[in-house]
Amino acid sequence: MTALRVLFQLTLALLLSSNIASAADFKPLTGQTAVRVCADAHNLPYSNDKLEGFDNKIAAIIGEELGIPVEYYWFPQRIGFGRNTIKKVDPETGKFLCDIAMSIPDERGLYTPTDAYFSSIDAMVYRKGEGYELSQISDIAKVSKQGKKLKVGLFDRATATHTLLENGLEDQIEYFQMMTGDARINSGRIVSEALASGQVDVAFAWGPIAAYYASVSEVPMTVVPLNELGTDFIFSFSMGVRHQDKDWKELLDKIIAKRKGDIDAIIAQYNMPSLANVKQTIKKKRVIYTVENGKVDDKTYLGWRLFNSSCYVCHGENATGTERGPDLLKVVKDMSGFRFRKKVLRKYFAKYNLDVPERRLALLSQIPVQHARGFEMPIWDDDPYIRPHISDLYAYLKARADGALGEEKPERLTK
Ligand code: HEC
Repeated sequence: MTALRVLFQLTLALLLSSNIASAADFKPLTGQTAVRVCADAHNLPYSNDKLEGFDNKIAAIIGEELGIPVEYYWFPQRIGFGRNTIKKVDPETGKFLCDIAMSIPDERGLYTPTDAYFSSIDAMVYRKGEGYELSQISDIAKVSKQGKKLKVGLFDRATATHTLLENGLEDQIEYFQMMTGDARINSGRIVSEALASGQVDVAFAWGPIAAYYASVSEVPMTVVPLNELGTDFIFSFSMGVRHQDKDWKELLDKIIAKRKGDIDAIIAQYNMPSLANVKQTIKKKRVIYTVENGKVDDKTYLGWRLFNSSCYVCHGENATGTERGPDLLKVVKDMSGFRFRKKVLRKYFAKYNLDVPERRLALLSQIPVQHARGFEMPIWDDDPYIRPHISDLYAYLKARADGALGEEKPERLTK
């Protein structure tokens, strides 16, 4: 075979394969005449009715690949979105109102997710030109110590809360409540209203939201991806279809794979915070305490000491309870550190839900014992010994509750 002939055959093969790839790759499903997207008409950077969102542009790619138009069924992205869109049948046509929802969490729930098409992490946003720079959460504490106590605005239950508390920023946090039931819109409002107006100095929000609201703000802002939170805090998003629409999901997965480069390019136009150098976190619980051969780390040891100075009076030397206070080992076993902190520091809410008949009797029999005698859990928030060491107390009690540590006085690993 001559070299020329080889070249010719190669070219032919290439031509053929590229032809196959572009023309005959994907066909719409039987009866499908449009890509019918369920979306919010006012939810940038995701979507709007002027088709300016990244999901609008990604939906257009799907239409392009299938050679059919994209149609929208608009509904506000909040609780009830799925029920009122992709899962709802139009009584006139007998067909579902729409067939695909964009940017849904990458997990099977209300929808079957396609392969994920973008990922992001929370971000920190602050006003430019205030004379300080923040590149990680602990910088807020640094700047605050230097004289300017920065106020932090965040959405209740934000992922950064834990790190903020660890940095002793509890007093500087202003929690914002959900207004519409959609975290994405609400955290955007913290940036566009509270941060821009100076009500807070730093805001925490989901990356795409932070980036978008900072970019359209009249007040110049800096967006810092919270890559320090680690890979556990990267969340991925998919397109969602109805569980029964398996062929549709497969088709979408193939389109996502083929057009990955174009999809990434669209996402990149929306200033999505970079995920470069995200700290690798192993998917496992953080180390709360260390016990080796009956010896404990400093935190756990300190927790034991504090417990025996401030808590044992009511909860008993072994933390197993007295008539003045409940058994803490039972309680702490399934209580997160965050909840423990809230319960001990903030307020002890004696919330007895007496509406549950099967629990009512048991609860009623408990209440008088503690309350009738006037023993109540004190609020420890203003105690200078307890407040900074709440996680140490938690470490000790958790080690005890998990059975890692016995009743005896623990020894320290380091002396
Ligand atoms: C004056 C007595 C008293 C002291 C001192 C005390 N507690 Fe309590 N604690 C209580 C009582 C009583 C309750 C239960 C309150 C209720 O059920 O209304 C409670 C509840 C709790 C709970 C919540 C249990 C649950 O079921 O949710 C935690 C956690 C706790 N205490 C931790 C501590 C720690 C840590 C200390 C020491 C820093 C401490 N307590 C000191 C009396 C006390």
